[in-house]
Amino acid sequence: MNYAQSRLPRPMRERISLHRLGNVDPVASIADDVRAGFSAIPKSLPPKYFYDERGSWLFEEICKTPEYYLTRTEDALLARIADSVIAKVRPSSILELGSGSSRKTGHLLRACERQRCHARYEPFDVSTEIMLHAAERLVREHAWLSVEVLIGDYLHDLQHIADGTGRRLVLFLGSTIGNFDQHESVSFLRSLRSVMTGDDRFLLGLDRVKEAAILNAAYNDASGLTAEFNLNVLQVINRELDGDFSLQTFAHRAVYNESLARMEMYLDSLVAQSVNLRRLPMQAEFAEGESILTEISCKFTPASIDTMLAQSGFVAEQHFEPENRAFSLVLARPGD
Ligand code: SAH
Ligand code: AVI
Repeated sequence: MNYAQSRLPRPMRERISLHRLGNVDPVASIADDVRAGFSAIPKSLPPKYFYDERGSWLFEEICKTPEYYLTRTEDALLARIADSVIAKVRPSSILELGSGSSRKTGHLLRACERQRCHARYEPFDVSTEIMLHAAERLVREHAWLSVEVLIGDYLHDLQHIADGTGRRLVLFLGSTIGNFDQHESVSFLRSLRSVMTGDDRFLLGLDRVKEAAILNAAYNDASGLTAEFNLNVLQVINRELDGDFSLQTFAHRAVYNESLARMEMYLDSLVAQSVNLRRLPMQAEFAEGESILTEISCKFTPASIDTMLAQSGFVAEQHFEPENRAFSLVLARPGD
């Protein structure tokens, strides 16, 4: 689909195309997911519903807080390694899963520019608005760049990615892989492996296991943005499912679970209450103090990264880390 609704000058606009992958509107699945999540014990929600326009903006603001070290650490590491990754891979296209604002990707695109490696960029996300902003910014910045915006759910729509021509570099940054549990990440990586050729490469960003105090602070920023981000998912449900969640009656809670090496983010009901979701229809009952698990963020060690990749049919070629070892970027290739 051509990208028409934009004030961008036509020659730039023509370098952006839009593809909706799969048959299902990614947000339409919210009815099934909420029904299943609220019928489970404990109640839970999949993290993809955080990212409506406001949620995507809140995430960008979280990334600027002093406590949320992940983004700035990965950004600095990517800046350092971008030239060597591009020189080694020389991709024809860069496919980025959960691309969001594509801010950090800029390091790789600027390395492409320096090395005259004019790769096509394929951001893939459920959140259309933020991808379109990013696409417009990037075609303005790089006169050679074409952007193919892929709208879809990477848990369901990977098989709809068109075959690349030439070598593809797949990116999955931000430790978004940590939002899956062990089983989900292996199954996700296996399905990614199945749409890659042996010549493609995969650059994966992962947050590392570290002191609980640092992790707890990162998900409990003093300015309250993470709390707002967490509570925003209830607004999304109210809007999409004609619900009557009262946001004042839920509280954000994020804690490091040391034995599972993961942050767990919850919304705790402050009172006993029943919530109507008229579009389902469903009445969800909450006891006082009952929690909804809204997100897990797994943390990794070099060994757990290698094991996960090996179980999924990838071979880690190179591990990159900053001096403080707070974060990893791993360049992997599909195994035989
Ligand atoms: N990669 C960026 C953004 C991380 S936020 C960074 O490192 O800063 C996670 C991103 O994944 C969001 O943009 C969100 O919309 C997207 N996302 C979450 N679940 C998704 C899903 N199931 N399919 C596709 N994109 C998803
Ligand atoms: C996108 N994802 C990897 C972030 C994380 O750290 O799990 C989302 C986030 N949740 C709270 N703060 C940021």
